[in-house]
Amino acid sequence: MARVLSGVQPSGDFHLGNYLGAFRTWSEQQHEHESFYCIVNLHALTVDPDPAALRERTTNAAVLLLAVGLDPKISTIFVQSQVPEHPRLAWLLECTATMGELRRMTQFKEKAGGSEGVRAGLFTYPVLMAADILLYQADRVPVGDDQRQHLELARELAIRFNHRYGEIFTVPEAFIPKVAARVMDLQHPSQKMSKSLQSPQGTIRLLDDDEAIDRKVRRAVTDTETEVRYDPAAKPGVSNLLEILGAASGKDPAELAHAYSSYRQLKSDVAEAVVEMLRPIRARARELTDDMATVAAVLEEGAARAHEVASATYAKAAEAMGI
Ligand code: TYM
Repeated sequence: MARVLSGVQPSGDFHLGNYLGAFRTWSEQQHEHESFYCIVNLHALTVDPDPAALRERTTNAAVLLLAVGLDPKISTIFVQSQVPEHPRLAWLLECTATMGELRRMTQFKEKAGGSEGVRAGLFTYPVLMAADILLYQADRVPVGDDQRQHLELARELAIRFNHRYGEIFTVPEAFIPKVAARVMDLQHPSQKMSKSLQSPQGTIRLLDDDEAIDRKVRRAVTDTETEVRYDPAAKPGVSNLLEILGAASGKDPAELAHAYSSYRQLKSDVAEAVVEMLRPIRARARELTDDMATVAAVLEEGAARAHEVASATYAKAAEAMGI
C-alpha cells in the first residue's frame, strides 16, 4: 500500500481552493493508501500569528479535516508540533540544502518581496516541509499546483541524502489534481484564492453560508466579452468559474463551456454546485464543534501513530549522518 502524506497550515479560514486542490483528494483516496495528514502549525509561525489565534485555528483545522470526510480510523490526522521529529529532521536536512536552492523558491520570493526583515523561518520553510514528507517515507503527496516547486525540492533533498548517506528516504511524488489545482480569487482572477484575509469577497470559505457563496459567485469578476470560453490566459475569470464547475461536476471545463451562452447562467450553475458541495461539510463541522472532546482524542491518537513512524525514520537518518 502506498504511503501518503500532506499538510495544511492553520493560518486562516480554509477555502474552496484548499478543498478542490487538496482536501477532496485526501478524503477520496484515503481508502486506497496509508495516509498521514498534518496540521502544520510550525509552518504557520513564519508569518508571526497571534498565539491565541494560532491555537484556536489549529483545533479548527482538525474540525474541518474531519468535516471534509477524513476518517480517523483509517487516516492519521495530527498536529506537526506534537511530533518533535519534524523540526529535528528539518535541521539535518538544512545541513544538506543550499542557500541557492532556497533562494530560488518562488513562494519565498513572493512573500519576502526582497525585504531584509523577512523571517529566517520563511526562508527555510520548504526544508521543514521536506522533513514532514520524508519522515513518513511518503510515496505520494497530494497538493495543489502552488506546492509543485516545494515538492521538487523535497525530492531533490531525498535523492541527495540517499546518495550521500545511504538509502534512507523514499523519494516522494506530487499528486496534483487535473482540474482546479489552482483555484483563483473570484475578485482578482489572476491571483490564487488564499487564506490571507486580503480578498474576502473573492474567497469562498468552506464555512460560508449558502447566501454568501451565491453572492460571491454572482459578483465574480469576468471580462467585457460575452462568450463563455475556457481560455485561462485570455479569460481568467470565466475559466476559473469553469474549472470550479468542472471540479464540482467531474466534467471537463473546456467542454462545459459549450453548454453556456451567458455568464449569468454559468454563474448561477457554479453557485448552485458549490453550495451543494459545501453544505454537508458545513453541517458536519457544526456537529463536531459541539463535540470537541472527540476532536482532541483524534489528534492525540494521531500524534502517537505519527510519532511511531517519524521517530524510526529520524533515528535512521541521524545515525546515517553520524549523530
Ligand atoms: P496551504 O496550507 O497553503 O494549503 C493547503 C493545501 O491547499 C492547496 N491550495 C490550493 N489548491 C488549489 N487552489 C488554491 N487556490 C489553493 N490554495 C491552497 C495547497 O496546494 C495545499 O495542498 N506548504 C503547504 C503546507 C505543507 C505541506 C507539507 C503540504 C507543509 N508541509 C507537506 C504537503 C506536504 C501549504 O502552505 O499549504
